Amino acid sequence: MSKKRKIIIAGNWKMNKSIHEAEELTKGIKQLLGETSEVDVVVCPTFTALKSVGDIITNTNIKLGAQNMHWEAEGAYTGEISSSMLRDLYCHYVILGHSERRTYFGETDEVVNKKVKAAIAGNLIPIVCVGESLEQRESDQTKAIIKDQIEKSLAGLGEDLKKVIIAYEPIWAIGTGLTASPEQAQDVHAYIRGILEEMGGTDVAQAIRIQYGGSMKPTNADELLSQPDIDGGLIGGAALDANSFAGIVNAGIEK
Ligand code: 13P
Repeated sequence: MSKKRKIIIAGNWKMNKSIHEAEELTKGIKQLLGETSEVDVVVCPTFTALKSVGDIITNTNIKLGAQNMHWEAEGAYTGEISSSMLRDLYCHYVILGHSERRTYFGETDEVVNKKVKAAIAGNLIPIVCVGESLEQRESDQTKAIIKDQIEKSLAGLGEDLKKVIIAYEPIWAIGTGLTASPEQAQDVHAYIRGILEEMGGTDVAQAIRIQYGGSMKPTNADELLSQPDIDGGLIGGAALDANSFAGIVNAGIEK
């Protein structure tokens, strides 16, 4: 039986790959996944590689995403990029509130909330990241932290709530090789869906896709994606290789 929600697998390339390397990776992904329609496939390269990667995936089923944006439309914000600039490059998605942005660049839920609203207003689909640290998990704060992040990051969206994608990324599982067990992940995903139900009602909560992120790879993707409330993956390290990225996407087919 297939899921109600279409699986979405997105590669977050983080601060990796020169333009040339990004092009090579994209060509590999295109060859393996360019025709894939059963799963939504997204690649999120650095800003500098968006144009080159976008050109290669034109007329395929692979969509382009960015890793961050500013909430203002334009102006004196040195070093920043707006939603319309990303649309200019044919981006469909933007990752917002990644734990690395929260940790290293001080992004708060309030900042993420402004960005989510700006992304939606700019016709981008926000992939909003939430997740607890190891310390928070060990002191049994996971659900309180997640609830706070979801409620604040997605505050005041009204009808637009249904337009977001959420990525649950436990910080302790990012780039560490430690993956949340399918049961641990499912538990938090179901909890997130419950919060979404309180915020927007059953239909909205049932429609929103919730990705898992944190050391997802071809060998563990099948079990994770088989969980009832896991609707995709946000992939870091394993997205930097065409074969392993394709392996994860293929695990999502028929789910
Ligand atoms: P890894 O897949 O490298 O653990 O990274 C996950 C992530 O942060 C995706 O946004």
